[in-house]
Amino acid sequence: TGYDLVIRSGTLATAGESFVADLAIAGGRIAAIGENLPPGRDEIDACGLLVLPGGVDAHCHVDEPPYAGARHADDFRSASRAAACGGTTTILPFANQVPDRPLRQSLEDYHRRAEGRSLIDYAFHLIIRQPTASVVGQELPSLIAEGYTSFKVFMTYPGYMLEDEPILELLDLTRREGALLMVHAENGHCVHWMTERLERAGDVGLGAHGRAAPPAVEREATHRAIALAEVAGARVLLVHVSSAQALEQIRWAQDRGLPVLAETCPQYLFLGQADLERPGWEAAKFICSPPPRGPQDADALWRGIAQGAFQLVSSDHCAYRLDGREGKRAHGDELHFRKVANGVPGIETRLPLLFHEGVGKGRLTLQQFVAATSTNPARIYGLYPRKGGLAIGGDADIAIWDPAKRVTIRHAELHDACDYTPYEGRELEGWPVVTLSRGERIWDRGRVSEAYGRGRFLPCDRLGPPSS
Ligand code: URP
Ligand code: ZN
Ligand code: ZN
Ligand code: ZN
Repeated sequence: TGYDLVIRSGTLATAGESFVADLAIAGGRIAAIGENLPPGRDEIDACGLLVLPGGVDAHCHVDEPPYAGARHADDFRSASRAAACGGTTTILPFANQVPDRPLRQSLEDYHRRAEGRSLIDYAFHLIIRQPTASVVGQELPSLIAEGYTSFKVFMTYPGYMLEDEPILELLDLTRREGALLMVHAENGHCVHWMTERLERAGDVGLGAHGRAAPPAVEREATHRAIALAEVAGARVLLVHVSSAQALEQIRWAQDRGLPVLAETCPQYLFLGQADLERPGWEAAKFICSPPPRGPQDADALWRGIAQGAFQLVSSDHCAYRLDGREGKRAHGDELHFRKVANGVPGIETRLPLLFHEGVGKGRLTLQQFVAATSTNPARIYGLYPRKGGLAIGGDADIAIWDPAKRVTIRHAELHDACDYTPYEGRELEGWPVVTLSRGERIWDRGRVSEAYGRGRFLPCDRLGPPSS
């Protein structure tokens, strides 16, 4: 026997504790943790470094079919490469239902995009835009049994927006089948009405993106999603929460014992309306939905992570290039807030941003950081303990961090296929120096593996009965 790799004398940290130890890997799995472990065929000296479970990014958009002509910058190669270089070892992107086709066909199409390309392991959420009787009654139950246990719905966006009854049907299904509904909570009727009002007033610059979807739009939809889940007796997960007002609704529900889960993202912790007011196309770099708000909301969201109201911090990586005709400008060159594709890149910067501003500045403990970015997403989506921890027998998906490494974020040094980062020029302390996926070095002190296709599909377990 013997170990393939021993990581020596690092500070191991999980969602529960931190301690100095050696960690040994055999056959792609964590084989032992302890002091003075026998030598491995390969060794890494992690003295002074942090040894963390690899990040689980439970919300990212990769190579979905184009939406109104806008195409994601990243395929599974570039997205998984960027993820790995930022310490993430599992991604959960979305297989988007193509209308009027069997759901399984959309899913098979999406599997073809990932297979042979991903550097890291992946699971899929579904996006449901047509919850017909056969989707709810037959297609979803059989897909849930095959490991697709989470799906997202939208309360906004033309072509996606669902009214309350179909959402209730889906919530009821998730309750019966041990699945989880993720909700994009913005009131699409309000956004539509506000958009027309802003257009009539000639307020169409990119800053109007924030004014078209103010916090009340998110607060109302958040409250409604919670009420629908309560009525259906189901769990619900509010994704990409941007505002203090939406967070208040989530707290209110959690305080009443309702099984309400919530996610926020770096763009809501670091960006704001001021970025949407930047001149010219510069502002397009920050257009995403819900819109980034600013420092006061961000402060509330940080407290929400620290206090456990948010279980998850995901990237919502949704990269559209600024150049060319297929990304941000798919609808033309006009600086009109309605015509810029929505979404920001962030799959590589998620963990370093949160580490620096959270752990580095004392807003979060290291345990809270690991929980929100790795352990909780793995648990919630049925991948734990295989992913999301440092369990003996679990996959050796590990990020070794140098907590003192100083980095200035430059798009030119990131690894996605977008052509900008909204965090350009930010100075951080702490970055993963080695990333292991099932024991293999896929990111090693500045060099990224080219073993595309080594990443495997992960079926997700069903969830247990709802509890808050
Ligand atoms: O603007 C965003 N977030 N685009 C991605 C799609 C979504 O709603 O998550
Ligand atoms: Zn969304
Ligand atoms: Zn998203
Ligand atoms: Zn990029």
